[in-house]
Amino acid sequence: MCGIVGYVGHREVVPLLMDGLRRLEYRGYDSAGVVAVENGAFQTSKAEGKLDRLKEKLETAPVHGQYGLGHTRWATHGPPSERNAHPMVDSRGRVALIHNGIIENFLPLKKRLIAEGWTFKSDTDTEVVANLISSYLDGDLPSAVARALSELEGMYAFAVVTNTGAGQQIVAARQGPPLVIGLAQGEQFLASDPSALLVHTKDVIFLENGDLAVLTPERVTVQDRHGRPVERPVQHLTWDPIQAEKGGYKHFMLKEIHEQTQAVQDTFAGRVDFENARILLDSVQITEDELRHIERIHILACGTSWHSGLIGKFLIEHIARIPVEVDYGSEYRYRDPIVDARVLAVGISQSGETADTISAMEAARERGARLFTICNVLGSQATRISEGVIYTHAGPEIGVASTKAFTTQLVALYLLALYLRQVKTGAVERHYLDALAHLPLAIDEVIRLQEKPMAEMAKKHHRAENFLYLGRGINYPIALEGALKLKEISYIHAEGYPAGEMKHGPIALIDEDLPVVAIATGNDLLFEKVKSNLQEVNARDGVVIALTDRDEEELGGICDEVITVPTVSPLLQPIINVIPLQLLAYFTGLRRGADVDQPRNLAKSVTVE
Ligand code: AGP
Repeated sequence: MCGIVGYVGHREVVPLLMDGLRRLEYRGYDSAGVVAVENGAFQTSKAEGKLDRLKEKLETAPVHGQYGLGHTRWATHGPPSERNAHPMVDSRGRVALIHNGIIENFLPLKKRLIAEGWTFKSDTDTEVVANLISSYLDGDLPSAVARALSELEGMYAFAVVTNTGAGQQIVAARQGPPLVIGLAQGEQFLASDPSALLVHTKDVIFLENGDLAVLTPERVTVQDRHGRPVERPVQHLTWDPIQAEKGGYKHFMLKEIHEQTQAVQDTFAGRVDFENARILLDSVQITEDELRHIERIHILACGTSWHSGLIGKFLIEHIARIPVEVDYGSEYRYRDPIVDARVLAVGISQSGETADTISAMEAARERGARLFTICNVLGSQATRISEGVIYTHAGPEIGVASTKAFTTQLVALYLLALYLRQVKTGAVERHYLDALAHLPLAIDEVIRLQEKPMAEMAKKHHRAENFLYLGRGINYPIALEGALKLKEISYIHAEGYPAGEMKHGPIALIDEDLPVVAIATGNDLLFEKVKSNLQEVNARDGVVIALTDRDEEELGGICDEVITVPTVSPLLQPIINVIPLQLLAYFTGLRRGADVDQPRNLAKSVTVE
């Protein structure tokens, strides 16, 4: 949700800012802008739309400087337009500011500033902050920012520069959305997300809520919300910058689908002692004895991560026999949940900064729950408020549609379920671990075998106006995820439904134009039930597409098309089943000419409520 970059140092700033913005464009692409400071003067350039528009503009009208800021916007206040693009310069032209988040009390502040003679050119809350800081500026930018901060309500991350003779300096502040500082010799970097810094440095500081940081080429100083100097730990990141590039693939999404074999393996590697049949979780500060007192689990997440939570319920209840509730982050704290110290709240989030998930986790903690997270981003907010973390070692996920983050979350949930079983019973059965060991090969196989058929299937069905996805049991959330992937990438309306519920409503939709993708894997009672549901679709002339690990004949010879997947343990089968559906969404989006890596209206990290 908006990308922030900043640089102070000895190099020409604009190419560095543009490179950082390119890596953050997934956070928002409604507009982009840069400010460079040269000889005490601001040089700004802004453009509506994607970063390439700004790039073109800079080619014809370059701007220069040795320090500056860049921004890519996901619109909240005011429509996407150049007028509302950041950086915002105050009406006396003394500070330039970029911002991610929402200032809730911007209206009263704006009225007050207008009464004091400040003027506004945009519809944004950001310009209010720029004017507010400038109104307090008396030579010392950090003090002016600190004073303005004390009046702001809401969630924000911002960075400010001034042209009033402070020398090379960026002041950054964080209350909610993340900010990370990259440390290097004689130069410093600032970004919303480490992926923008990795090519320059792997030594970073994650700012805490309430922090205000001052970056100069030589040093970084941080003060907390009370104005006290603080030392934030320098962390060394291990992400490979090459991982954040497209590496020969046409899109990040396709690359990330392919990376799932490795990402899944990386997520369980080192956490399973295959020899002694033990689960080894690091980063858990809740003792085993405390965990034995946990009676209920609340999973809190949004979007795709919520779907993995639904599967987590099956895994934890089946393996660890602990009751699980799964909530949308945005609903949880408004429904007065019953929480106490016997609840383990598990926030699942790729980014670790989804505002709804974080708020729900905080609400659970306030009511006494112990806090755990499954997260992909080191040092993110979810990891910092939790007492236990299982990192999904998926590497940077840049495509807005979550793929490898989802499958690695499922592996992490499987590990959590096994760990809880181990804590409760003293052991985990070896077959659970063997099943995990077989998984990467099966993922590799399904990607290899299904990439072309899914491209073909997309060719055939990309003009459909609706899609229905059906699944049962542990595969019902895969129907939801298949539908979500398709709608966000291709803009085709799609619904995911538990197959048994179809007859209670969606069956009315079925006609010869409706492709129905039914997940029919396994050889248990539910497989037989899905088979009957497919008969119901067939009887109404729907297009039956079965995703199955069984012979086509076993499905009664009624399928129009079949997606064949390898068989793994039923508890891990959702990881295999989702992959062809990711591919189908990708190729359908591509056929329809959609921007699959940056679908309209979406952003990778949703840091506003
Ligand atoms: C997934 O394809 C989505 N773009 C979205 O639903 C996402 O999963 C959701 O916003 C949650 O994000 P998080 O995992 O970073 O918390």
